[in-house]
Amino acid sequence: MVAWAGKTALVTGASSGIGRELAILLAERRVDLVLVARSVDKLDALAAELSTAHGVKVHVIGADLQTSGSAATVFAETERRGLTVDLLVNNAGFGKWGEFLDFSPEVYVGMLSLNITTLVALTHAYLPGMVARGGLGVIHVASTAALVPVPYATVYAATKAFVLSFSEGLYGEYAGRGVHVMALCPGGTDTNFAAVANADIQVPEGRFGTAKDVAVAAIRGFEAGQTYVVPGFSNLFSAGILPRLLPRATVIGLVGHVWKKMAGK
Ligand SMILES: NC(=O)c1ccc[n+]([C@@H]2O[C@H](COP(=O)([O-])OP(=O)(O)OC[C@H]3O[C@@H](n4cnc5c(N)ncnc54)[C@H](OP(=O)(O)O)[C@@H]3O)[C@@H](O)[C@H]2O)c1
Repeated sequence: MVAWAGKTALVTGASSGIGRELAILLAERRVDLVLVARSVDKLDALAAELSTAHGVKVHVIGADLQTSGSAATVFAETERRGLTVDLLVNNAGFGKWGEFLDFSPEVYVGMLSLNITTLVALTHAYLPGMVARGGLGVIHVASTAALVPVPYATVYAATKAFVLSFSEGLYGEYAGRGVHVMALCPGGTDTNFAAVANADIQVPEGRFGTAKDVAVAAIRGFEAGQTYVVPGFSNLFSAGILPRLLPRATVIGLVGHVWKKMAGK
């Protein structure tokens, strides 16, 4: 069991969706919070709500985590405020749905910076303190897209494959030293993600799960010491189990067929 109360978690991308729900669940467990995103107004509102409801201390840091050096800036700010981060939730991320050539190299550089470079840099900054104190660890938000190649979200899926591999590698290095590293691999979830991924997209009603269910699965998985969590059996079956039974080209064809339609192609 994880001794949550009195610990401090830094959650990136806490202004909406999965990050917001994770912040709420952690506050319910009496975890103090450091909320990071660009939308400081939303973070301030959430901070006020959670500190009033649960009596936890909530700090807000406004940062664009796509920019070079942003992880060092966030780390320096937590040091300046005298904060000790016990749990790092690397959640902020975005994708783009469409053909590879539909988006500029600059968009992909931003995606790689946010989804990979900053995530690694934040982990590198906060892990030494966690190792020294023996806890708690890191939750990396990957995706079911980490488990299979995804035509029409090709670069995004590749960033998430990195996140899963990075996360499990770290798990292997730090398990047994009191620091647990876990990847969260949600399937389609009803957040702002799809709108950011491709403004034209129409996600069928009821097709996506809720951010709250994903956050609940993440907390349960972390408490159970899982290396990675895929919330929802249908997600686990379609992304985690079925692809291992079929030829790779068949998997790519099936996934591409679904995502081509979702990307409006
Ligand atoms: N929704 C899904 O279907 C789904 C499925 C699998 C995995 N995921 C992953 O889940 C994570 C959370 O996404 P979500 O679904 O909750 O989407 P969301 O509602 O769009 O939330 C994304 C969060 O990331 C923050 N963010 C985006 N760009 C940022 C930047 N440059 N600097 C700092 N923060 C930034 C956003 O805050 P600001 O805009 O305020 O900066 C927001 O808080 C992502 O890593 C995503 O890849 C989502």
